[in-house]
Amino acid sequence: MTDADQDAGGSAAEQMPFAQDHPLQPAPRLRALQQRGPVHRVRTRTGDEAWLVTGYEQVKALYAGDRLGRTHPRPDRAARLTESALFGGRPRENFAREDADRAWFKEILHSVIAPVRLREARPWVDAMVRDLLDDLAAAPRPADFVAKVALPLPTMVICRILGVPAEDLGRCLRLTEAIAAAGDEARSSAGLADLTDHLAQVVTDRRAARDGLLARLRGAPYRLPAPVIGHIGASLMFTGHHTTVVAIGYGVLLLLTHPDQHRALLAHPDRLDAAVEEFLRVGNVGVNTGGGNGIPTYARSDLDVGGVCLRANDLVLLDTGAANHDERVFADPYRFAVDRPSNPHLTFGHGRHYCPGAPLARLEMQALFAQLLHRFPDLRLATGLADLRAHDDQITGGLIELPVTW
Ligand code: HEM
Repeated sequence: MTDADQDAGGSAAEQMPFAQDHPLQPAPRLRALQQRGPVHRVRTRTGDEAWLVTGYEQVKALYAGDRLGRTHPRPDRAARLTESALFGGRPRENFAREDADRAWFKEILHSVIAPVRLREARPWVDAMVRDLLDDLAAAPRPADFVAKVALPLPTMVICRILGVPAEDLGRCLRLTEAIAAAGDEARSSAGLADLTDHLAQVVTDRRAARDGLLARLRGAPYRLPAPVIGHIGASLMFTGHHTTVVAIGYGVLLLLTHPDQHRALLAHPDRLDAAVEEFLRVGNVGVNTGGGNGIPTYARSDLDVGGVCLRANDLVLLDTGAANHDERVFADPYRFAVDRPSNPHLTFGHGRHYCPGAPLARLEMQALFAQLLHRFPDLRLATGLADLRAHDDQITGGLIELPVTW
């Protein structure tokens, strides 16, 4: 039996998550697996078996088609990635209605973050960035960039889009953190229920801003009941803020650990959009503590992926971080280069499964880095790389702290 056969079909399932030596590089075990082939048998932290797809071509093709779904016909028997209530835990949505439910959800989201709406959003996002950077400038040094900027910005943005009152921000943050708990199903489920109830109550009490998504869902043409609006709001608050917090943290870390690229960007601010894409490509490694891209999907039928046979309803994990470092697509993939000419990374998924929040996440990162570079050209790390710690107890991972000085 070859190594590849053993990975793919034999009994040697690799235990995840894989330990990373360096916060910005894929785990050595993951890298070794990727060298061997595009599909691997793995065991998740819940003890279930799954397939980990690491090849760019295979990840992209699976995203594009309809061969994977997020639901399972028997959720109680579905293999799991983590204990989280939202992503990674037991699939919750209805198997038969999955496609219709997702299309509807995307349409709703599109109504608030369509390109025209995003153009309107840029000035208030810029103002939020300015205020946060004012606070950072006034803070004692060293300061924690995660607490001061990376965490509050996406939270403030998604709360504004939903129309959640500013005074509720702290509470929403605590509850989304609970939802992300990777190893504690009770805490995660309670967090999701509390956030859903809380947002439903905001709607019932008419405290939601009139131009926010929550209030719109109450009015025509949707006229949804408050508990359903609460659930949509909680899902969006979670997906819309955690991922972006993590991406900002790794983006800043990449910049501060690559002084030549930092200088190049200061000298050529017109490269900012390309740099944000490179932050997203490289900063996506090891982000999701459970493994893969952190989002469990299930084969809708028997599949052949890269010559490996997957069975219907098998758990399939698409590793976008590994795919983003596939040398068949990215020249010198382990090099962080702000002027990479072509950067078709899969951090936001692809095709049918492309993240509907990607334009908003990009807008937030572009707005933040534009001002950060200009106002803090001397920003630098205030700790050694070895002392940086990532959340291994949350499904979205991310840096716990990022001490900086200037
Ligand atoms: C850097 C930040 C972000 C990253 C890396 C990211 C990544 C992803 C990926 C890979 C998927 C596809 C999952 C799959 O189907 O397998 C996804 C889906 C999704 N994302 Fe994002 N996302 C980010 C920001 C956002 C934001 C800001 C929002 C909302 C405002 C958002 C809302 C969603 C939603 C609602 C889905 C599910 C769509 C569906 O059911 O098909 N995301 N995201």
